[in-house]
Amino acid sequence: MFVFKSIKLLQDHLSENRPKFGKVGYVPTMGALHQGHLDLIAASKAKGCYTVCTIYVNPTQFNNTEDFEKYPSTIEQDIVKLTQNQCDVLFLPSSAEMYGAQVVADKYNFGTVTNSFEGALRPGHFDGVITIVSKLFDAVKPDAVFFGQKDLQQCMVVKHLINKRFSNIQMNIVPTKRESSGLAMSSRNVRLTDDERAVAIRLYEALLFVKQQVLAGVSASEVISIAKAQWLNHPKLKLEYLALVDADTMEQHELVRPEIHYAVIIACWCSNVRLIDNVLLTD
Ligand code: PAF
Repeated sequence: MFVFKSIKLLQDHLSENRPKFGKVGYVPTMGALHQGHLDLIAASKAKGCYTVCTIYVNPTQFNNTEDFEKYPSTIEQDIVKLTQNQCDVLFLPSSAEMYGAQVVADKYNFGTVTNSFEGALRPGHFDGVITIVSKLFDAVKPDAVFFGQKDLQQCMVVKHLINKRFSNIQMNIVPTKRESSGLAMSSRNVRLTDDERAVAIRLYEALLFVKQQVLAGVSASEVISIAKAQWLNHPKLKLEYLALVDADTMEQHELVRPEIHYAVIIACWCSNVRLIDNVLLTD
């Protein structure tokens, strides 16, 4: 695997190799890699792409300093995993390389996609995500990109960005990888104790219950209040949202209609770790 820290060296390498390999597939990450990330690499390789991964913990997308400071970093193990999973190139930029002297995000408004749920609860988060993803897409110039469904709202934000600025890039959303308990894999899971992990699986159980009930015709508000009482009423859990949404626009819905593509989404603190997860009604 080639490792580059500068955009110039990365671009020189890619323009030399692009004609040989055809398509460049790209997996942006913040490191602390788990099987969910490796599935994204596998999806890119399965499409025959010359595969580039980035590890860069982007400061501008953290609305909470403690979350940024505690974000896990396992770079040596990450490099071993990427090599074992046939990743072709790792791009490891510094903040100076990505932002220059001013590490600040631009402002974006894509309507409900940026302003609801994660956008409302984590002010500036999507400004940071869109700013860095734009810079990374400009640096890598990928043909296809691979994002995990766990961050569903982020996927929709990136889809909008692609439609607006990068229409030649093909977006691929890869299903959430789960532990055998059902807990969605996340880099933040390493901060959960065994007891917290055992409680955290309630998020997925609540999602599956809401999905089953809304598909049976029960209204979202009714089933969500039952789910809150049965699964999420626990001293270690603090729910931020549980909602039925249009999976493309992130608008909240009460009842299922056939023409819309829905998801049930959740954000919940488990002690001091914020977890998000979702299920599509079509899964
Ligand atoms: O999902 C992530 O890991 C990050 O938000 C991303 C897309 C790498 C941007 O920093």
